[in-house]
Amino acid sequence: MLQLLAQPIADTIAQHLDLPVHQVADLLGPPSRPALDLALPCFVLAKAKGLPPPQLAAQLAEVLNAQPGLTAQAAGPFLNIGIDPALVARTLVPPLVADPRLALRSTSGQGQRVCIDFSSPNIAKHLAFHHIRSTMLGNALSRCYAACGWQVTRINFLGDWGTAFGRLIAGWMREGFSLADLDGAEDPVTFLNELYVRISQAAKADPQVAEEARAWSRRLEDGDSTARELWQLFKEASLRAFRKVYALLGVDFDSWKGEAFYEDKMQPVLSELQQRGLLVEDQGALVVDLSEQGFKKPCLIQRADGGSLYATRDLAACDDRFAEFAFDRSLYVVDLGQSLHFQEWFAVAGRLGRPYVDRLRHVGFGVVLMWNDESQGWAKTATRNGVPMLLVDVLEEAVTRARAVVDEKNPDLDEAEKAAVAEAVGMGAVIFNDLKSGRRNDVKFRFEDALNMQGETGPYLQYAHARLCSIERRFGDTYPGAAVAEADPGLLTLAQEKSVLLALAQLQKALDKVVAEDEPSALAQALLNLAATVSSWLSAGNAERSARVLCDDAAVAASRCQLVGVVRACLAEGLQLLGLRAPERM
Ligand code: ARG
Repeated sequence: MLQLLAQPIADTIAQHLDLPVHQVADLLGPPSRPALDLALPCFVLAKAKGLPPPQLAAQLAEVLNAQPGLTAQAAGPFLNIGIDPALVARTLVPPLVADPRLALRSTSGQGQRVCIDFSSPNIAKHLAFHHIRSTMLGNALSRCYAACGWQVTRINFLGDWGTAFGRLIAGWMREGFSLADLDGAEDPVTFLNELYVRISQAAKADPQVAEEARAWSRRLEDGDSTARELWQLFKEASLRAFRKVYALLGVDFDSWKGEAFYEDKMQPVLSELQQRGLLVEDQGALVVDLSEQGFKKPCLIQRADGGSLYATRDLAACDDRFAEFAFDRSLYVVDLGQSLHFQEWFAVAGRLGRPYVDRLRHVGFGVVLMWNDESQGWAKTATRNGVPMLLVDVLEEAVTRARAVVDEKNPDLDEAEKAAVAEAVGMGAVIFNDLKSGRRNDVKFRFEDALNMQGETGPYLQYAHARLCSIERRFGDTYPGAAVAEADPGLLTLAQEKSVLLALAQLQKALDKVVAEDEPSALAQALLNLAATVSSWLSAGNAERSARVLCDDAAVAASRCQLVGVVRACLAEGLQLLGLRAPERM
């Protein structure tokens, strides 16, 4: 987008100097001082022309000042360029009116494929509050990559394998449950959790029970049909619960291949490691020595009892993903606590000479801390009245609190609309809180802060959007018969309007940064910046009647309203890329 402003200027300069336009365009960038729009360091061009840089800068200032809408000034060897609001508007508004999504699309990933492994919870357990992080960072990344032209495969690598299931089956058998018990349970996942706790306690107290659990684990691994059927049942019950939360959050996946899927696909990896002489025995277990790569410990590949390990499963899964998708990049959105795990198996993939090894990225993130009213402190687990809160509980509470605000501010909405707005705002509060700061930072969550409409929050952005929607609705009432289509961007002459447009033009750069650094906060911050410029534009109208969007001059009002429509659409698009909804009324 910024290119649209810079290109004609680069053309003019290149023509004047008789140099290839890319040579000028590459140098023309945003200035160090925010008051100006573009700057051109003249060293390289001056050299090409055999002139001292300050002289060239002065010469070019004269050329540009002869152009309508431009103000140029030489500052030593630099050329600073200002662009009139009306010229900015005439350049940017028409393409944005034609397609507001232009501001949030990029072609940087055209033709490339990315696999994004995110959320990936362990089954037969509830989604805990901390699962919000991987789930929503991964969701935002999926959408942003897609907006940059990447072909995205979203993968939920379920933790659906392990000895826990042998235990669960043993407990189920001991207590004589049937399918009807699970189906009839108020919450099947809680039912399984409680069963797990009981059987674990029993196994601790009674070696006989412990042996039963181990026997069921073996039968499950050996493919015993009763064990497999029960495992399937437990898995489906968890998946149903997961899907409900994902639906609430608006998250979906293309692949649900979990750890169990790879159980019989690890042999090729093991054999290959063996053949290359990379496997070493270590107290009965098989490991790959990584001391040459600077690791203190080797990477565990197979347990002493023959059981496979997390790293081996990740290697097998990665081979499978590469064979299926030939990815150009593969992301693992997993907390920083697992950094060593990823470093280790990435290093093993390197030792195996995998062609994809440089395409792997561990997208690590910090923990989320929840404010605890009782202890007046930040805690790693969310609790309410001392009871741990699940992700779904936090989401529901956020929606309930948002509902109270909606009831107060929008008593006229009908029931269904109030519910929908409260859901959008409650979710938006929780999601944005997680995305607004750099992902490596720990995140603090407190309902009051996340829902604060005056803070840097999801609801603040959603409110900015709803406010613009309301102005658009009022335009029709204020000027019956007038059409936004008759707008003339040349009438957008306020400095604030220019700021809004420049903030819009920055969105694309932010989007590219999200993808380059796997950092959704870049877009979150750019949207906050846009909302701030909009807010000062609208405040200018409060101070002075002629600066209002719906001012007395119908043509100016129509032009401003057109800009309102463009910003509104871009905000909605930006919010949806981050995984938030944008209600029209709040
Ligand atoms: N299931 C794991 C956990 O809950 C996360 C899996 C992350 N993805 C991966 N490919 N290792 O800790």
